Amino acid sequence: METNSKETLQADFDVFDISEEFGFLLEEPLTHLPDHYQVWLDLANNLIHLIESRKLRDLVDKMPVLSPDLLSDHRELRLAHLALGFISMGYVWQEGQHAPAEILPKALALPFWLVSRRLGLPPILTYADSVLANWKLKDPTGDMRIGNMDLIFSFPGGDTCRGFFIVSLLVEMAASPGIMGALEVMRAIKVSDLTGIKNGLIKVTQSLKKMKEKFKFMHNHVEPAAFHGKLRIFVSGWRDNPMLPRGVMYEGVSDEPILLSGGSAAQSSAIQCFDALLCIQHEEETGAFLTRMRDYMPPAHRQLIETLSVCPPLRDFILSCSNSDLCQAYNSCVSALVDLRNYHLNTVTKYVIIPGNHAQSVGCPFRGVGTALNTTGTGGSNLMVFLKSVRNTTQKALILERLS
Ligand code: HEM
Repeated sequence: METNSKETLQADFDVFDISEEFGFLLEEPLTHLPDHYQVWLDLANNLIHLIESRKLRDLVDKMPVLSPDLLSDHRELRLAHLALGFISMGYVWQEGQHAPAEILPKALALPFWLVSRRLGLPPILTYADSVLANWKLKDPTGDMRIGNMDLIFSFPGGDTCRGFFIVSLLVEMAASPGIMGALEVMRAIKVSDLTGIKNGLIKVTQSLKKMKEKFKFMHNHVEPAAFHGKLRIFVSGWRDNPMLPRGVMYEGVSDEPILLSGGSAAQSSAIQCFDALLCIQHEEETGAFLTRMRDYMPPAHRQLIETLSVCPPLRDFILSCSNSDLCQAYNSCVSALVDLRNYHLNTVTKYVIIPGNHAQSVGCPFRGVGTALNTTGTGGSNLMVFLKSVRNTTQKALILERLS
C-alpha cells in the first residue's frame, strides 16, 4: 500500500527518532565518551560506592568545569546527559532524604544545562535517560532477554534498581509494534483506508497486551522495600517535593532555584501516543500533568504525540462510518489500555502506597510522594485519585453504541 511504503516509514522513523525494533529506546547506547570527559564517567560508574561512602559531593566539588563542546553526536550527548543526571541525583540525595543538597555546583550544573539545551531535555535525570538510554547487553552477540541485559549506571538499591529500569525498558520495547500500528492508523485514516485502520489497531492491542506481560516481571525483580526506601529517593526531583520546596540552584546557570520533576514512567511517550491515537481526553488537572511530562521527553518523541493529537480524530471517524469490525478493533484497543492501567494501579499500590503507609507510620517525610506528582500530606491518596482518573477516562472512550 502506497501509504506504508518503505520510504514513508523511514521518513517517519527519522522525524520521530524511532525504529521498528526498538521503538523509543535509544539504539546501541554508547558507554564511553571522549577522554576529556573521563571524570564524569568515573563518577557515574562508581556512583553506588561514592554515595554509600558519602564521598560523591566532595569529589564533585573538586571537579573541573568542562565545556561540552567536544561532544559531537546524539549518542554522545545522551550518554553525557545520563551520566550528569545520575551524578546530580546522587549529589542531591547522597545524605538521604533528610539533607538534600540545595545547590548543584557549577562543574555539574553548567555542562548539564548546556548538554540538556542541545538535546531539548531538562537538566535532570529523565525516563528518557534512566530507562531508554541506560542499557547494554552483557553478551553483545546475545538477545534482549532480561538475563542478558544490564544497566550502564545504577543507584543504590541492588538488584531492585536493575530490575526496575530493565523491566521498564522491556515494557517500553514491547510498545514498539504498537507505535508502528499507531503510525499505520495515522496514515490510513488520512485516506479513509478502513482495513489499514483496523490492522493498525490490532497491532496496538497486541502490543498493549505484551506490555502487560512484560510488566509482570516487575514482581520477580523489584522488591517493594528496596524500591520505596532506596531507589525512589534517587529518582525524586525538586518540584512538588516537600524536601526541596524551592527547587535546586544551578550554580553558573541561574540566580534563582529551578523546579524540576523527578524521573517517572509518566514521561514515557508510548502511553501518551496511544492516548492521542485513541482520542482519550483526560480531565483538566490530570491532562495538564501528563502534558507537562512531555517537557521531559526527547523533542522528536514529543512531536509524535503532537502529530497523533492533530490527526483526524479516530474515534469520531469510527463513529461516523458505522463499521462494527472497526468499532470492535477500537474497543479492544481501549480495553487493553484500561487493563494495562489497572495492572499499573495495583503495582503502584504494592510499591508506593503500602510501603508509603508503613513509612508514614514510622515518620518518613516522603510519605506517599510520587516521583513526579504532588501527593504530599495525603498518604498517597492524590496519587491514586490521579491514576484512577486516568484509567476511568480511558474506559469512557469505549464506544457503547450498537453499530450495524
Ligand atoms: C514498580 C513499578 C512502577 C511504579 C511504582 C510506578 C509508579 C508510578 C507513579 C507513582 C506514577 C504517578 C506519577 C509520578 O508521580 O511519578 C506513575 C505514573 C505512570 N506510570 Fe508508572 N510506575 C511503575 C511502572 C511503570 C511502567 C513499567 C510503566 C510503563 C511504561 C509505567 C507507566 C506510567 C504512566 C504512563 C504513568 C502516567 C499515568 C498514566 O498515563 O496512566 N509505570 N507511575
